[in-house]
Amino acid sequence: MHSIRAVARKAAASSLRMNRRSLHSSQAALSDALFVHRDTPENNAKIPFSFNAENEKRIEEILKKYPPQYKKAAIMPLLDLGQRQHGFTSISVMNEVARRLEVPPMRVYEVATFYTMFNRQPIGKHFLQLCTTTPCQLGGCGSTKILDTITEHLNIQPGETTKDGLFTLVEVECAGACVNAPVMAINDDYYEDLTPETTKKLLDNIKAGKPIKAGPQTGRLTCEPAPGVYTSLNSEPYGPGFKVRSDL
Ligand code: FES
Repeated sequence: MHSIRAVARKAAASSLRMNRRSLHSSQAALSDALFVHRDTPENNAKIPFSFNAENEKRIEEILKKYPPQYKKAAIMPLLDLGQRQHGFTSISVMNEVARRLEVPPMRVYEVATFYTMFNRQPIGKHFLQLCTTTPCQLGGCGSTKILDTITEHLNIQPGETTKDGLFTLVEVECAGACVNAPVMAINDDYYEDLTPETTKKLLDNIKAGKPIKAGPQTGRLTCEPAPGVYTSLNSEPYGPGFKVRSDL
């Protein structure tokens, strides 16, 4: 028979386990996942890729910024164009960038595997990058609640894509918008001051094809103080010489 103390110890340990959340619970996803390329049906060097006419014009403009002998400096902007056109940074995109810039493909692979913004595996149409770094996680900000809301609502875990291909979710480090924590980037835009309710609403509106508004979801303007502007200096600034002796 277990003693009462042993049972209590077990209960306390299990409650600790439930409350604890390691800082990085996501599986390493996408560009962090694997630094080597493994051929898959949707990502192998036999799949042709070339830039479309619109991107060709952009490439022309980008290349004008660099002396011809330094055009390898355009690796990142070209990879970005390729990713936007193709949906992710496939091996064929990387090879094409290398060909265009006349550098060994390895030079491009090095860049694409270093920067996490290059997704080297297919992602969903709406790429959810939820910040779970300390300022977003602490106190009332509660990015853990937002993470739980998304995983439950979409039935995916970080690093996964929904079956309909609409959403991919990843956790990211500080998105640089802590004043509006908690923050999630959806594709190129930030959605801030999230709550479980506003998060669900955003996801439902995306699913329904309705427009969503980027920025704070609470109605505050950009990053003005959350309780209102009454704590800010909002009067006319003092003119020169204010409170300075007239003989000076
Ligand atoms: S910690 Fe989340 S935006 Fe900075």
